[in-house]
Amino acid sequence: MLETVRYLIGSAGPSGYGSKSTAEEVTEACADLRSITAIITGATSGIGAETARVLAKRGARLILPARNLKAAEETKARITSEFPTAEIIVLPLDLSSFSSVRSFASRFLSLRLPLNLLINNAGKFSYERAISEDGIEMTFATNYLGHFLLTKLLLNKMVETARETCIQGRIVNVSSSIHGWFSGDCIHYLHLITNNKIAFDATRAYAVSKLANVLHTRELAERLKDMEANVVANCVHPGIVRTRLTRDREGFLTDMVFFLASKLLKTIPQAAATTCYVAVHPKVEGVTGKYFADCNEAAASKAGCNTAEAARLWRASEEMTVDQ
Ligand SMILES: NC(=O)c1ccc[n+]([C@@H]2O[C@H](COP(=O)([O-])OP(=O)(O)OC[C@H]3O[C@@H](n4cnc5c(N)ncnc54)[C@H](OP(=O)(O)O)[C@@H]3O)[C@@H](O)[C@H]2O)c1
Repeated sequence: MLETVRYLIGSAGPSGYGSKSTAEEVTEACADLRSITAIITGATSGIGAETARVLAKRGARLILPARNLKAAEETKARITSEFPTAEIIVLPLDLSSFSSVRSFASRFLSLRLPLNLLINNAGKFSYERAISEDGIEMTFATNYLGHFLLTKLLLNKMVETARETCIQGRIVNVSSSIHGWFSGDCIHYLHLITNNKIAFDATRAYAVSKLANVLHTRELAERLKDMEANVVANCVHPGIVRTRLTRDREGFLTDMVFFLASKLLKTIPQAAATTCYVAVHPKVEGVTGKYFADCNEAAASKAGCNTAEAARLWRASEEMTVDQ
């Protein structure tokens, strides 16, 4: 109850920010990001586009991977018209395809740029069951497995950049509070929906992919500590905001739901705030393996804190993404 009131009035938490803080406000303390190179997935719209705009405003060099290159070039044009000195590179990437993820990683690595920040933001909500070209349910393939492989392929570059620049690398996985709507065995459930063994439930499939983002963060943070890498990994719930995530369900009913829920919704600048806070704020220096909401550390679900499940998911993900 107290949490809801705090959310509605936007009162600041221990970080000094709250649900109504915007991405611009939380990055005021880090006004010069000119030494930072960042990859942001899913920056063609919604939360990712605002994250990109604000990090560019603060001076970061951006790599925007996208499956829709025209939309990514439009994002780039919008940002450079506002900040003419912004340095932005657009590259092709379809996260639902392992071969596309591999091509993107080798293209990026061939540019010989540093990599300080990886924001795994892209996401989709599939209303119908669909299977990726690698034979995996599409929501899981896009929201989680594509990002798992991408992170793995870029990790050495991030560790190396952190060592050479003495700037701590940061990985931000954009999850959702909906991760708490699933508490079973992710891999078993993935197997059931991929093989059409149970009726497809779009919300459950989305929740599983978002729980996988939380578990990925937990195991990744542990592995980075074991490697003594100067790179941290955290995940965020951005808040609920109307974006193109519900694009397949546009219409009167969706309008009504959003209208009725409007008091609980964030604006896009507010929804990008937690990602930006975790990505660049000095207070997050050294913090790793945590879940953030409304720009403050928060509790992930019980399933999201299961370290054994996080390690098991990692092993299964390695098997699923192995290059054959
Ligand atoms: N909106 C919310 O209320 C909410 C709440 C909690 C969490 N989130 C999470 O926040 C993140 C951003 O979502 P959003 O609300 O900003 O949604 P959005 O406006 O639909 O943006 C999603 C982005 O992901 C990209 N994307 C989707 N599938 C892709 C693929 N196969 N390969 C590469 N890029 C792909 C989209 O690119 P295209 O232009 O190619 O479609 C788009 O840029 C997602 O991870 C979402 O799960 C959102």
